[in-house]
Amino acid sequence: MIRLAWPDVGDAEAGAVADVLATGHLTMGPKVPEFETELARACGTEHAVAVSSGTAALHLAVLALGIGEGDEVIVPAYTFPATANVVALAGARPVLVDVDARTMNIDVERVAAAVTPRTRAVLAVHLFGRPVDWEQLEAAVPERVALIEDAAGALGARRRGRPCGGLGMLGCLSFHPRKVVTTGEGGAVVTSDAEIADAVRQLRHHGWQPPDLRDLPRPGLNYRLSDILCAVGLPQVRRLDELLARRSRIAAGYEQRLAGAVATPRAADGDVHGWQAYVVQLEPRAEALTALRRAGVEAQIGTYALHRLGAYADHGPFPGADAAYERALALPLHARLTDADQDRVAEALRPVTSGFRGQKHLG
Ligand SMILES: Cc1ncc(COP(=O)(O)O)c(C=O)c1O
Repeated sequence: MIRLAWPDVGDAEAGAVADVLATGHLTMGPKVPEFETELARACGTEHAVAVSSGTAALHLAVLALGIGEGDEVIVPAYTFPATANVVALAGARPVLVDVDARTMNIDVERVAAAVTPRTRAVLAVHLFGRPVDWEQLEAAVPERVALIEDAAGALGARRRGRPCGGLGMLGCLSFHPRKVVTTGEGGAVVTSDAEIADAVRQLRHHGWQPPDLRDLPRPGLNYRLSDILCAVGLPQVRRLDELLARRSRIAAGYEQRLAGAVATPRAADGDVHGWQAYVVQLEPRAEALTALRRAGVEAQIGTYALHRLGAYADHGPFPGADAAYERALALPLHARLTDADQDRVAEALRPVTSGFRGQKHLG
């Protein structure tokens, strides 16, 4: 079986975990700030706060901005559900906005039309690692509206030279095993705003503000990331450029084999794709999935059209999200993928895509 994903971890990570176990400090020891320093450096921000998942990062970003009842937050209609869930769970209203079916990112023109006096923030997703057209997004909303990046899959991606995660007021990262850097489960909030970083730190640790543990200024959660898991992430974030270069080579290998047969992904000119996933578009996708499975290739849908889920069923219609949902297909992408594996993927897709007459590129 050619696997969809395979975390790029080995001896360095195993050794780092063994070192932590030997110290007896399993959580909130020295590995947490070490990991945070490397993350802030990678995102070009002053602060990073490690948390227990990408979802926790998004949740704390929304809470740290004081977003709650009566507020609206604009989110893309095509994304992983956590992007909208955290807004709803904070008591605010997620306002779904359609995506551009080609880039699969939020349609910036529609964002401008969705802003109301209640809009507190836009949660913009760099989907699959493709940077959002950031300057256009900034121009589409009034200054009072905070821009939060769901950079769950965009660590290492760059918009016109600037690292994703560091573009908005806050950025949220995920270290789930399908991400370029993984800690098994994990996430982080990155920001250059010291007050927001403090608020996130407080909220991830029950509401406490160390070193003063006599009072609890506000209620919080336990969204901490353990030293053990930060130790797993550290060697990876230190070799991030190498990890990205390898994924980018695999993406180029797919482009070579598949361009013209399916619509292939790419970043806008001048941007660097983060290649969290390699997601093409084709029709009929169900047949492609069956053909790949039959050839021993693990593949997956792209992500979710939220208005097709019960929780957001009354938010549509979103034709861009529908098109992306129906056509998007994630192909295997990891460092162990060989040229022969990529040949096999392309070969398995050939009978399904031989009549392809659609658009060549998605970017
Ligand atoms: C765009 C996006 N946002 C948020 C998340 C949630 O991250 P986690 O699984 O670490 O909670 C994911 C995870 O896949 C994602 O793809």
